[in-house]
Amino acid sequence: MQDRYGRKFTKLRLNLLDACNMRCLYCMPENQTFSNLENSLSVDEIKSITQSLSLSGIEEIRITGGEPLLHPKFKQIVNELSKLSLKKLGLTTNAILLDKYIPFLKESNITHINISLDSLKEASFKFITKRDCFHKVLDNILLAKANGFIVKINMVMMKNLNFEEIEDFLKFSSDNDIEVRFLEMMKVGHGIPHFDRHFVSADDAIKKIKKGWNLKKMQMPKDSTSFNYMAGKENMKANIGFIASETKPFCSDCSRLRLTNKGVLRPCMMVNEGVSVNNKSDEDLKLTLQELIYKKPNYRIEQNPLTMNEIGG
Ligand code: 5AD
Ligand code: SF4
Repeated sequence: MQDRYGRKFTKLRLNLLDACNMRCLYCMPENQTFSNLENSLSVDEIKSITQSLSLSGIEEIRITGGEPLLHPKFKQIVNELSKLSLKKLGLTTNAILLDKYIPFLKESNITHINISLDSLKEASFKFITKRDCFHKVLDNILLAKANGFIVKINMVMMKNLNFEEIEDFLKFSSDNDIEVRFLEMMKVGHGIPHFDRHFVSADDAIKKIKKGWNLKKMQMPKDSTSFNYMAGKENMKANIGFIASETKPFCSDCSRLRLTNKGVLRPCMMVNEGVSVNNKSDEDLKLTLQELIYKKPNYRIEQNPLTMNEIGG
């Protein structure tokens, strides 16, 4: 599956549901309403669509939400995805419920777990997520790491909120041998009203880090969303990345498609029109994919009013 710009589509983000047990300020308000799971794909439908997509070139699947661990059929879905011959199966979670799933996940094909952690301070974690579960999340991050998963932390950088903690995150990375990725806040959904007050660019962060740390650029795959450095200071070594969606968009090398829980395949997180792929034969799906990848822009669209939990972060 290759488009007119030479991009190959090998990665799928599978959005299981839009519900979440956090309320990150850049993502959703307290009174957010969620869609009914009764109208979403069944386990069999997910199985059949992902099977066809893997025949069409999808090699990696990342399960996202909302919070995917809230899906009542999470285990059945993962069991089906584990049967596909993929190069990688990953999960993005806020980790509140992760401890309950670790034994199950160890038996599955999930190897990579990305976890949101925007602050290492209990009070600001609570302010950002609106939930009192800092210690639970931190413990679960370390538990996942101790159980052999490849864990990455996502930290959305925000001026006057957590930007001052950036060095603490480097120490955290060094102490725990965990990659930390610093995300630029995106003009998506509830990020839009917070953008002017809180936006910090990757360049600003790098400038700040360079004052105390040596940065060595690391080689990354062409379609990587992040650019990474090994950061060193005294006897510390931090593995850090930057996802600079606003100032250094990676659209021209993007290899991702998104599947919503309604069975709509979306070409891009900034494009809200997609095509329904439920109940299609492998042949029909191939034609639909050709149509879809034509709609995938190779430049960054400025903003999207849909919230990240609806798009599938
Ligand atoms: N800008 C940047 N990152 C965001 N996320 C959610 N909303 C936004 C936004 N507006 C992040 C979450 C999570 C990842 C999937 O996306 O913090 O780590
Ligand atoms: Fe939930 Fe993720 Fe949105 Fe935070 S960013 S409210 S964890 S879906």
